[in-house]
Amino acid sequence: MQPDRKEIYRQAPPDRGASSFIYPPTAGNIRFFVDVLRQGGVVAIPTETVYGLAGLALNQSACRSIFEIKGRPLMDPLIVHAANLDMVEILAEVPESLEIISKAFWPGPLTVILRKKPIVPDLVTAGKQTVAVRIPRNPVARSLISELGAPLAAPSANPFGYVSPSTPQHVASSFAEKVPFILDGGPCEIGLESTILDLTPRDRADILRPGAISQEDLGAVLELPVIQKQISISEQEAATAPGTMHRHYSPKTKLLLFEGRPAGIMESSDATVFLKRPENAGDANIFWLSEQGDTGEIARSLFSMMRMLDTKGYERIHFQLPESTAGGVLVAVRDRLQRAASRA
Ligand code: TXA
Ligand code: MG
Repeated sequence: MQPDRKEIYRQAPPDRGASSFIYPPTAGNIRFFVDVLRQGGVVAIPTETVYGLAGLALNQSACRSIFEIKGRPLMDPLIVHAANLDMVEILAEVPESLEIISKAFWPGPLTVILRKKPIVPDLVTAGKQTVAVRIPRNPVARSLISELGAPLAAPSANPFGYVSPSTPQHVASSFAEKVPFILDGGPCEIGLESTILDLTPRDRADILRPGAISQEDLGAVLELPVIQKQISISEQEAATAPGTMHRHYSPKTKLLLFEGRPAGIMESSDATVFLKRPENAGDANIFWLSEQGDTGEIARSLFSMMRMLDTKGYERIHFQLPESTAGGVLVAVRDRLQRAASRA
């Protein structure tokens, strides 16, 4: 059920920013977003990773709206965002390893897969007995979830299969009036989706999706072996159901990858993107993610670069891939580039 907008406006007159759907995170606007959510509405919220398309996790109709707006298949489960550990315990069985993990990385860009409690709707978990949860550290997200006092289901706020949004403008450009309420947290601090760690096996922890919190970071605190899986469980399942899974995180323009130097001669209709400023920086159609090759900046600018180039009418985008030996967040950058370039 969509909220009655007139009713909401009466309760808390919203204070819009310069762009029509984007609201500055004032105390009044946060209360307004809480009201929209309490009425079963769906809003876009900032997190430190990417923007999320959020609704009450324990409200079936809000979750159904999230799937509809995103065009996401019902077989692909949602991440639930909590304000604190008490909220996590309402949703899931908490293993011993979570204590270490939460002390080290929460609030922050780490999602864990836990055994779910019956209160979590099947829609959220796509019928699985496990649930994905995280406590985000973005201050606007934290204020919103704390004031709401309830967990929020939120996938990345992009149409299914497209590049995730790392600014509020990205959300507005993809959805327009389909998502009329976007809470402004500025550009995302990290710019890539959270690391997903499966804690349901008792004897190890599996990374299902690499992110800013790396295998090295996790291995340094966990007493279990930390295994980097190639693709997430849901994608493996989807791969066995042909036609349901498309490319992930992909621009519409054809994306080709290279290591080191690009092979062959570039056409004038091609763009080339380097990780750091190249020697031929002044040439036409040459771009780079970070002046000095700073890894945080590379991660932060990746999705903005993909989205920007996707509007320029290039025939192909050639993207430099971090070396396979690179660690830290570059593992996640490599993962997102490979998915974006895949034709599966
Ligand atoms: O950084 C993030 O995680 C962002 C922000 C908004 O928090 N959210 C995000 O959500 O990236 P989404 O829905 O775009 O990606 C969630 C991934 C999906 O690949 C989904 O299949 C996986 O998490 N997932 C969710 N629940 C799962 C479960 N129970 N078992 C395995 N994978 C799960
Ligand atoms: Mg996503």
